[in-house]
Amino acid sequence: MDTLIVYGGRYGTTERYADELARLLGTAAVPYAAVDDVALVTADVIVYLGAVFAGGVPGLKRTMARLVNVTERIRRFPREDDPVAEASRRPRVIVVTVGLGDPAIPGNAEHLRAVVDGQLPPAVAAHVECFHLRGGIDYAALSPKHRAMMWMMWQHEKRVPEDEWTDDTRMFNETYGGAVDMVDFATLRPVLDAIAGSGDAGADGIMDVGTANDRILDGGPADDGTANDGIAGDETTDDKTTTAEP
Ligand SMILES: Cc1cc2nc3c(=O)[nH]c(=O)nc-3n(C[C@H](O)[C@H](O)[C@H](O)COP(=O)(O)O)c2cc1C
Repeated sequence: MDTLIVYGGRYGTTERYADELARLLGTAAVPYAAVDDVALVTADVIVYLGAVFAGGVPGLKRTMARLVNVTERIRRFPREDDPVAEASRRPRVIVVTVGLGDPAIPGNAEHLRAVVDGQLPPAVAAHVECFHLRGGIDYAALSPKHRAMMWMMWQHEKRVPEDEWTDDTRMFNETYGGAVDMVDFATLRPVLDAIAGSGDAGADGIMDVGTANDRILDGGPADDGTANDGIAGDETTDDKTTTAEP
């Protein structure tokens, strides 16, 4: 079984999870910007690990749109001697978010799932399996823009009366300005179990390329990185994830 591990993060926690998962599976994790079309459509399982930045996940939208586009191209315009078409399969897709919020707090997992679904073409969203892990933050390492965004969030959170704090509010307020590392490789276990279960024919995660939407196929750029709340847009979290400050 060919498992492709792709990640999109900025400050290293997502990459650490991706590298550990890859190590456990005897493969290598690839940053989303380095994934090629052949790798995408020839995988049996794609595991996308992505950091959550105010409603956006770096590279997720772009990568999944590429998957659908390439798969559709093969289906609609079959060519002789097309190496991509020859090797093409229908991969299962597993998305793993990495964020500060505790997915065990009621409502958080549902919110994160909505964030993920907002980045996916319908053909993928219908079948994707989702997991949520906790990352970390080091305020000293943040870009100026991200620091400003967190400051704005703190203006709100610090005014919440203490008797109304959730565990997330407490963690945020008590660590604001400092550093916290909640990376826990043991939480990769359910992801590994999901990958291991993927040999079954007809598993839920298999993508039906026939339902890909034409807007994605015909449109311009498949992913402008725009997050659904307009805060974590392209310039904030996506294309420049591994390059310059926003
Ligand atoms: C500007 C900004 C926005 C963030 N928004 C969220 C969020 O909406 N939900 C969440 O759980 N974590 C949020 N985080 C925390 C990151 O997801 C967390 O720091 C993650 O571990 C970063 O991954 P990376 O180290 O791979 O870049 C945010 C962090 C920053 C800097």
